[in-house]
Amino acid sequence: MVYLDNNATTPLDPQVAEKMSWFIREHFGNPSSLYPIGRQVKDLLTEAREQVARALGAQRSEIIFTGSGTESDNFAIVGALEARPEKREFITSAIEHPAVLETARYLEKRGYVVHYLPVDRYGLVDLNYLESVISDKTALVSVMLANNEIGTIQPLEEIIRIARRFGVPVHTDAVQAFGKMEVNVRKLEVDLLTVSSHKIYGPKGVGALYIRKGTAIVPFIHGGHQEFGLRAGTENTAGIIGFGEAARILQERWKKDKERLEKLAEKLKSGLEKTIPNIIFNGHPEKRIKTTVNFAYPGLEAEAILLALATKEIYVSTGSACSEESEEASHVLLAIGLKPEIARSAIRMSLGRFNRDEDVDLVLKEMPEIVARLRAISPYQPEV
Ligand SMILES: Cc1ncc(COP(=O)(O)O)c(C=O)c1O
Repeated sequence: MVYLDNNATTPLDPQVAEKMSWFIREHFGNPSSLYPIGRQVKDLLTEAREQVARALGAQRSEIIFTGSGTESDNFAIVGALEARPEKREFITSAIEHPAVLETARYLEKRGYVVHYLPVDRYGLVDLNYLESVISDKTALVSVMLANNEIGTIQPLEEIIRIARRFGVPVHTDAVQAFGKMEVNVRKLEVDLLTVSSHKIYGPKGVGALYIRKGTAIVPFIHGGHQEFGLRAGTENTAGIIGFGEAARILQERWKKDKERLEKLAEKLKSGLEKTIPNIIFNGHPEKRIKTTVNFAYPGLEAEAILLALATKEIYVSTGSACSEESEEASHVLLAIGLKPEIARSAIRMSLGRFNRDEDVDLVLKEMPEIVARLRAISPYQPEV
């Protein structure tokens, strides 16, 4: 199998699997219990919190574990807005993950005014637009660090600089950035930041929210006083232990992985470019997570390519995994100005830690034939 959908999810690192399986076998205590088997689990959770904090340049007390990246996004946005009830405006971008966009729609229904920052053809947000809509009515700005579909990296430092002038806190969804570029909350000076375990070779169903010390936020899930009273519910202990281990491994090797995988992605990109006519690459040429290779073939349906590749056990994605079930073209590709029929032909290949040179060789061997075959039977032949 050749797995080229690492932006959708990553395989569990064997060391993470090992640690989790040890934990599940040896520990069942409730970390809130005061006797030893509970305290031991509590100590292990503290260690995992330290590992995630260290990987982000944060303090341990600033990391809250949640049930997913989606939950962290929801908590950050709704929690920050509820902490400033007199401010009724929220700013985000047009190309956020549904975890943010659908939260924004929910807020609109609750009477909030939401401003969606437009993006240019590379997916970079319009900072002038931000300047024009931000005001003392704004409760929060939330702009993702790197886009999951096209990989474009936003100018977060500049966004934060603008927001600071108005005293507005900033949240960023760093789910796709974490592990693929430096994500340091101190350098970014961001107030709230979301990450997710299953994108960094950890288990699914566990995320974290960085809350900068002093940031006003209202709890989202009510109950016991777990997670410093900010997220109730008995912890997903094995998931958190796995997330901590994944973050520890990440810190050791992300730079080396990045170097190797970016070369491999470049080989994939230039190979596709050479062999397939009229290919369009999406995303910023430089300010991008380079291991995300998103491209369109005018005149072809992405799904047909995806299925043809799947018969060869090569797994890729159309647009983003979350939009795969809907017929609509990706909102990200439409926002960067692609026509719907071109957006519907887009494929995303995303490389990860376990990809090897042979994986890319195989894709480059299979793609030209698949595309030629599908082109021959396609009724739509675009002008190029
Ligand atoms: C940018 C971004 N934000 C949020 C999420 C949601 O994370 P989770 O799957 O942990 O809910 C994803 C997952 O695809 C993502 O890519």
